[in-house]
Amino acid sequence: MDKGENYEVKDISLAEQGRKNIALAEEMMGALMKVRERFEKEKPLEGQTVGLALHVTKETAVLVRTLIAGGAKVSITGCNPLSTQDDVAAALAEEGVNVYAYKGESNEDYYRYIGYIIDSRPTITIDDGLDLVTKIHTDHPDLIPGIIGGCEETTTGVIRLHAMVDDKALKYPMVAVNDNKTKHLLDNYYGTGQSTMDGILRATNLLIAGKTFVVGGYGDCGKGVALRAKGLGANVVVTEVDPFRALQASLDGYRVLPMNEAAKTGDIFLTVTGDKNVITMDHVKLMKSGAVLANSGHFDVEIDKSALEKDSKKTRVRPYMDRYDMSSGKHIYLLAEGRLVNLGAAEGHPSEVMSTSFCGQSLACEYLVKNKGKLENRVYVLPEEIDKKIAELQLEAMGIVHDNLTNEQEKYLHEWKEGT
Ligand code: ADE
Repeated sequence: MDKGENYEVKDISLAEQGRKNIALAEEMMGALMKVRERFEKEKPLEGQTVGLALHVTKETAVLVRTLIAGGAKVSITGCNPLSTQDDVAAALAEEGVNVYAYKGESNEDYYRYIGYIIDSRPTITIDDGLDLVTKIHTDHPDLIPGIIGGCEETTTGVIRLHAMVDDKALKYPMVAVNDNKTKHLLDNYYGTGQSTMDGILRATNLLIAGKTFVVGGYGDCGKGVALRAKGLGANVVVTEVDPFRALQASLDGYRVLPMNEAAKTGDIFLTVTGDKNVITMDHVKLMKSGAVLANSGHFDVEIDKSALEKDSKKTRVRPYMDRYDMSSGKHIYLLAEGRLVNLGAAEGHPSEVMSTSFCGQSLACEYLVKNKGKLENRVYVLPEEIDKKIAELQLEAMGIVHDNLTNEQEKYLHEWKEGT
């Protein structure tokens, strides 16, 4: 590990590669770069200290530079022990950013680094999965009066925020960035779809065509994964607890089965539900020998790894592929230790979709500053105009022109008397 005054990273000599990767991401993140240009002039985050627990990727580095351009002081750590890109962390460290993260963090280091972010006394928190908010609320409530608000990136974190509100436990305002259309309709769907297949392919190099590919969960992320698996020629099976989503999956052309049945037919299993024990040892026992299991949900709880570890002998066959030989004589493969396969075995979502997600983060910080003292301790969604502006910026960056309503059409939409 390399340590300096402002960092703890795997290898500081990787910084040059990190800078090249960040430059590539900046080229693809046109909308976020437009926000940065404005932030440089207006400095809306002057005087703020932003503490981040986000996947430390080249895209996140573009966000960090944008927050700094807006006048903020920034400290960052990861939000998953396997997702840090060490070259990016090194580049940020060399730029003087407070960064504490490496790929393959122990649980102890993971929480020690969150402690360093808390030590920076953030006035705004940015989370992906809510670990930073949780730690502040449970162990450092003294910090709360100085915090103007926080932003949450992902579905799992937003679900937890609502649980905090229900418990009357939330003590500062939070913006659910995940609930922006320019986040969940793009990042969750196209981002998770592509990056999950990327992770599975990099980990295994398996042929997807002709395989039975079981997707556990048909939310925005599961929908994206099912679509891309189908695109590669898989026979897709969906498992789902929500009747509307199960119906959608069926009408989208997928076979819908309970996991008990799907377990018997699947070659590849991918969980992305946000809940625990979606695949248990009982399911694993029903599976074909050689089945491949992976997860793209935020936490590594969707596949019951500890039960698997009790009953089997584990062998690492490739960097992100472990073989579990069970007492029954059968074996299965688990990818990326059951953690987010798209960030563990690949590089997460492509820059283009992270551009709109992270416009959401930057503009949520600005929103918190503008509304300082006026917000309640609850979960906010950014106003529709901000979300629309993000979409416009990204369309512009991609050179796409869209239509606008004519005056006549606009008027018609507010009319109720005109009929057949
Ligand atoms: N979440 C999923 N993909 C990501 C990426 N590339 N950067 C940061 N967070 C992510």
